[in-house]
Amino acid sequence: DAAQKIMQTAIGLAPERWLPGGTPDPLIGRHGAIGSSVPRVDGPRKVKGEAPFAAEVPARNMTYAALVYSTIARGHIATLETDAAQAAPGVVLVMTYRNAPRMAPPAVFMSDPRAAGASSLPVMQDDAIHWNGEPIAVILAETQEQADHAATLVRVTYTEEAASTSFEYAAAHAHRPDNVLGEPAVIEIGNAEAALAEAAHKIDRTYHTPRYSHAAIEPHAATVWWEADGQLIVHDATQMLNGTRWTLAGIFGLKEEQIRILSPFVGGGFGGKALWNHQILAIAASRLSGRPVRVALSREGVFRVSGGRTTTRQRVALGARADGTLSALIHTGIAAMTAYNNCPEQFSFPARHLYAAGSFKLEQKVADIDMVANTFMRAPGESVGTFALESAIDELADDMGLDPIELRRRIEPAKDPTSDHPFSSRHLLDAYARGAERFGWSARSPTPRARREGEWLIGMGVATATYPYYRMPGGTARITLTRAGHACVAMASHEMGMGTATVQVQATADRLGLPLTHVTFAYGDTALPPGTIAGGSSQTASIAAAVTAAGEKLVSALLKLVGNASPLAGLKAGDIVARDGGLGHRALADRFESYVSILSRANRDQVSAEAEAPMPLEVQKYAMHSYGAQFCEVRVNAVTGETRVSRFLGAFDTGRIVNPRTAASQFRGGIIMGLGLALTEETLFDERTGRIMNASLAEYHVPVHLDVPEIDVIWTDTPDPRAPLGAHGIGEIGITGVGAAVANAVYNATGRRIRDLPITLDKLL
Ligand code: MOS
Repeated sequence: DAAQKIMQTAIGLAPERWLPGGTPDPLIGRHGAIGSSVPRVDGPRKVKGEAPFAAEVPARNMTYAALVYSTIARGHIATLETDAAQAAPGVVLVMTYRNAPRMAPPAVFMSDPRAAGASSLPVMQDDAIHWNGEPIAVILAETQEQADHAATLVRVTYTEEAASTSFEYAAAHAHRPDNVLGEPAVIEIGNAEAALAEAAHKIDRTYHTPRYSHAAIEPHAATVWWEADGQLIVHDATQMLNGTRWTLAGIFGLKEEQIRILSPFVGGGFGGKALWNHQILAIAASRLSGRPVRVALSREGVFRVSGGRTTTRQRVALGARADGTLSALIHTGIAAMTAYNNCPEQFSFPARHLYAAGSFKLEQKVADIDMVANTFMRAPGESVGTFALESAIDELADDMGLDPIELRRRIEPAKDPTSDHPFSSRHLLDAYARGAERFGWSARSPTPRARREGEWLIGMGVATATYPYYRMPGGTARITLTRAGHACVAMASHEMGMGTATVQVQATADRLGLPLTHVTFAYGDTALPPGTIAGGSSQTASIAAAVTAAGEKLVSALLKLVGNASPLAGLKAGDIVARDGGLGHRALADRFESYVSILSRANRDQVSAEAEAPMPLEVQKYAMHSYGAQFCEVRVNAVTGETRVSRFLGAFDTGRIVNPRTAASQFRGGIIMGLGLALTEETLFDERTGRIMNASLAEYHVPVHLDVPEIDVIWTDTPDPRAPLGAHGIGEIGITGVGAAVANAVYNATGRRIRDLPITLDKLL
């Protein structure tokens, strides 16, 4: 039937992968590759220094770029003196709005599904300034040092205009965005305010979260040049290959085929590696100079020209009945944004899907600020939204004298509370039970300040992690099978260090019945069939679905090649499974022929098949999300207010775990980033000038080893029958819930409820 067909498309090739009763069994991996801790296939090249990153790609006749950044938030350039820079040693080009080539404004990420542009502002096209830090000049020189020196010689004065740099002021004039990632900005079910007013127990709180900046280990970089035939080559650090190509084509008036983007290695993305000013300016400067350009942003440059997570102010109000069920769930608030981008920080999304309530009021507004365009940053919205929501749940539990896990049991919904769709796969309470057992939750005292060791107050907190299941359309995989029985999968997808290449080798090996050593995965190049973004934790599923579709086509192509003498003669695709390095009848062991034999008999060196992943619309009838339970123990110094996280455990429910080794690393990385969000990170924005004050890792504090305890991660490993491989994406969920788990633990330790991140020691004194 239709549902079964969809699931078959989504899960895999073979009917054997279904358990009795029609439940698909994505656990079956004929060679055991799925679910095994395969080491990273890209690891050896990286540790040997053989992996070229965008700032390391060599080019003959290279020039090096330095950017000059504006120091006002809004206005116009009044005077701009570049003669001294032009005359400085080694300088090849000084580019400003006066000589920059004409370029169309970028198409904007999340406004157009094809776009990778961070904002729609024109890039260096006139004397207007739109944010403090906007590039106003590009210097090209023979060495990086010469370019950096010349950049200090540019003299500029401005005519300043009043800028919107106060969050309070902009929030007072906040407006609803047209939509929030294609969803309505408001959801109202029943009359939540009235239900709240009448509730037996209620809490009504406001939470603040600050700006956060991207701080990937690899600062943004690109090496670009124009070929003699007009072809544009861009070696970029990006998580959006095809989007970048499409957007650059629009900016420079080129056909997509005239542009090739390569990005085989990326030193961390997290949402920040998109199309910002620096690549566009490097390409423009290369066009003017006729020479290759390398632009490698300084750490300060990353803060100035690439945005991150944006400021939010959120209200969460919960009304509860005496039995601990919710009569009202209100989650509303305002996020800072610019008028030129479309990332409204979807903090209200978790509350749309997590808990049962009699009424809902969920609303997002945006406040226009003159700043570098904000963008997605690991679980945008969900990471700060769960801070507010999961802190409020803890506050309600404390008010009612209920254990916070018990409260969540009482509000566990039977179906999605705002869409009414059934959950495809939800085992949140299972994750809580496993996590509580392993963490020793029962040892926690519900009374704050109950545990003290010398100066140290010790407390435990818990919070729910959640992130949606996304799969992006348009991904196309090509599988090439050689006469030697090796398969290469090719797709313009991204390996940013998370294990994409490794898990796709595993999945393909299982799909084709090949050993891991006989499979390679080619990625990171727009010359390959189109991939989808590495974002929204969607890439694993998006690639796997395309590989499945291509695998089906490959089997059909192979069956056409077999002659009458083959043991496969007369068999139909539906009878066939890939196994043991070849194809065989699903039940009859002797009806088997190896790939080597099929291709040799047909006298073919290779067979290739390419297919786009179908989008099973039926999955839209399900609410598909990932879950987790984050457990935190903190020690807060009663004298200094210093908070140390002493233990942390994440118990996740994210479908099938394809590779426990890479998965554990993703979960831990997310949790570590969450500890930064909770305790140390904050982009300080001077509201007088719109200037970021701490544009360096010396003053923007990402967690270091001393800040991070042993982190335990466990998982339910329960496959989602509607997801390729049964697996959900796991890149983002690790950070969600961490802010609240830490804040709830701090409350349990100290009796102090901090509703304003980060939880720095001054707030605890
Ligand atoms: Mo992510 S914020 O979708 O890289």
